[in-house]
Amino acid sequence: MVKRAKITIVGGGNVGASCAVWAASKELGDIVVVDIPELEDRVKGKMLDLAQCGPIERFDAQIIGTSDYAQVAGSDVVVITAGVPRKPGMSRDDLIATNVKIVKSVSEKIAQHAPEAVVIVVSNPLDAMVYTAWKATGFPTHRIVGQAGCLDVARYRTFIAMELGVSVEDISALLLGGHGDDMVPLPRYTSVHGIPVSQLMSQEKLTACVERAKVGGGEIVKLMGTSAYYAPASGVVQMVEAIVKDKKRILPCAAYCESEFGIGGYFVGVPCVLGAKGVERVIQIDLDTQEKELMDRSVSHVKELVEVVCQMDSSLA
Ligand code: LAC
Repeated sequence: MVKRAKITIVGGGNVGASCAVWAASKELGDIVVVDIPELEDRVKGKMLDLAQCGPIERFDAQIIGTSDYAQVAGSDVVVITAGVPRKPGMSRDDLIATNVKIVKSVSEKIAQHAPEAVVIVVSNPLDAMVYTAWKATGFPTHRIVGQAGCLDVARYRTFIAMELGVSVEDISALLLGGHGDDMVPLPRYTSVHGIPVSQLMSQEKLTACVERAKVGGGEIVKLMGTSAYYAPASGVVQMVEAIVKDKKRILPCAAYCESEFGIGGYFVGVPCVLGAKGVERVIQIDLDTQEKELMDRSVSHVKELVEVVCQMDSSLA
């Protein structure tokens, strides 16, 4: 008998609910969205609303909202969106004190109720929250991964496509590093249907796309007064799809790197192969001196944030 995949999303806010919408519309499996007891009715209502799209959008899935973690049992993938989002003027790092507590407590419940799941973290500051989830679940590193690169590279690809007036589908690109303004889009690994982007765009315009991608999250916070959610959720569901369909896609994810890129035991955005087991492999690529410098700077920022987490809660050290 073929079993439908089970996808749990923790947090029924904008990102969590949007994840459910994308996952349902792609018919990736049954969906449980968990929220805190105070928000249970809201999440129940949202998911009932989403379930009623099934006849129109043509998906068959059991979709429920709940505050009961017992409903999480048997999940193949758990997405952690729980935590507070940014407000204008805030950096992702400003969320650390609040979100570390939330992500820790949620992770412990996941470990208890879905001990076999692959966990995708989206809460910010992303790389430090992936680390927190790893420590708090005690899961093997390949079953803990962060979503940031899929979003960041999608932003970068969008800006390049807008500039060139071509389809976003034809832009292939790579991006490394932490999910902060020091993330590292890589023009040398960016092509337009196989054509190196440098042949189609001036250095100046390319740099403008890189810089806009790096602060792409902040651009939206400024406009909306809160964090983005459609594209972050879309990035999550790209990863969920790779896992539940065992696609072995190469996607930029916050994955555990021991020796890779000289990172030495941190979760940082790198290209990896994503399949049923979670992160099946990290792919190493050559970096020139300047790219390496940018990557090292981004990685040291991630390390600083992890230090902060460990200082805040010694059980996570
Ligand atoms: C962003 C948030 C979700 O980049 O980190 O939009």
